[in-house]
Amino acid sequence: MTSRAPLRFPKDFIWGVSTSAYQIEGALHEDGRGPSIWDSFCRESGRVARGDTAELACDHYHRYREDVALIAGLGVGAYRFSIGWSRIQPDGTGAPTRKGLEFYSRLVDELLAHGISPMPTLYHWDLPQALQDAGGWLNRDTAERFAEFAQLVARLLGDRVPGWITHNETFEHTVLGHALGTHAPGLTLGLDSFTVVHHLLLSHGKAVQALRANLPPDAQVGIAQSMAPARPATDGGEDRSAAQLLHLLHERQHCEPLLLGRYPDELAALGLDLSAIRSGDLATIAQPLDFFGINYYNPNHVQATPPGSPVPLMEAEAPARYERTEMGWPIVPEGLTELLLDLRRRYREKLPPVVITENGTAIPDAIAAGGRVDDPRRVDYLDKHLHALRAAMDGGVDVRGYFVWSLLDNFEWAEGYRPRFGLVHVDYANQQRTPKASYHWYRDLIAAQR
Ligand code: FCB
Repeated sequence: MTSRAPLRFPKDFIWGVSTSAYQIEGALHEDGRGPSIWDSFCRESGRVARGDTAELACDHYHRYREDVALIAGLGVGAYRFSIGWSRIQPDGTGAPTRKGLEFYSRLVDELLAHGISPMPTLYHWDLPQALQDAGGWLNRDTAERFAEFAQLVARLLGDRVPGWITHNETFEHTVLGHALGTHAPGLTLGLDSFTVVHHLLLSHGKAVQALRANLPPDAQVGIAQSMAPARPATDGGEDRSAAQLLHLLHERQHCEPLLLGRYPDELAALGLDLSAIRSGDLATIAQPLDFFGINYYNPNHVQATPPGSPVPLMEAEAPARYERTEMGWPIVPEGLTELLLDLRRRYREKLPPVVITENGTAIPDAIAAGGRVDDPRRVDYLDKHLHALRAAMDGGVDVRGYFVWSLLDNFEWAEGYRPRFGLVHVDYANQQRTPKASYHWYRDLIAAQR
């Protein structure tokens, strides 16, 4: 790690940390919050490891001041968090709850008082359960509801919030939540989940319009999409076709409508039911964006399935040469350089400036004697990925910022609390926060860029 050249980023580069509402807030039954699909999912037995729930999570709802102080201690310029839709509109529609709005308003003020730019995500996977009961993202009306929610929030916070993200990872939310069923709402639609993709993207476009109509003209609006090079398990033709198919279903399906205003033709050739697309939808989806958020963790290795299988591809083991994280994900920093250069090559001037909205790693961190949490593997991970990012910038990609996932150890969805992604360790027994060695490393790195 020490052998690498020191990292140098532009002076105005935005350094940040990311979280999401459901993973940290707790207080699921307070101040009029309505249930979300994750509340329901966590109650179903066998859905979340060890039966963990987000009832308390990091108790951020009550401890947000302490958490903002931790963010400020890093010296970051921005904080990405998400707004729990059912905290504002308990049923996903109609009048907002005063207390829900006040919570985010206080959080924003606290951030601003510390000189940190708030960057909210409007949807990080926690759909109000009432909207799910009405069909969720299979129902086109959910896109209208989302635009209405965006308008409400913009009117409340627009004067104080410079940067906005509509959705977090439409691909993961579709695949995990609606195709495979390992996340809420637990649907197993397989390739029939295209309708969900389309309504998510449509709701993004409508939300961008609602934000623009209610925000000052200099507001920055974007989306956060997961990106991962698709790599075949072997050089064999079938595995290579499987990797191409994954590339189509992931990056191309979730970027081309946003950036080029069209779906790839190959989707129709797959026999997908595209009947959810109505005339004018693609123009709505392809709203100009001020930045394109990218969440990067690792490439996806993929292989073909045997003939006659219900789906033509499946996940493959990454080659043994790669080190793994606690999630079992291979550590491949150069994958970040590769995907950014590739995006730039394929979308050219249609690709807005990029912000890395998530990047980080899970490690089984523990508090050692003396109260320290040493996490050299996280430092190494972040350092290597920042070098990989710098290489992409040197290769011509316009990257404006980088956000570590995550500020705190938190509720990692179906994996519960075991994976620890934080720069700050959380002791879930007493909610004590302990900055890890990586926290201090990130703080020093940011300070050295000034
Ligand atoms: C991303 C999610 C985020 C977190 C990280 C580890 O896919 O956006 O909430 O779970 O993975």
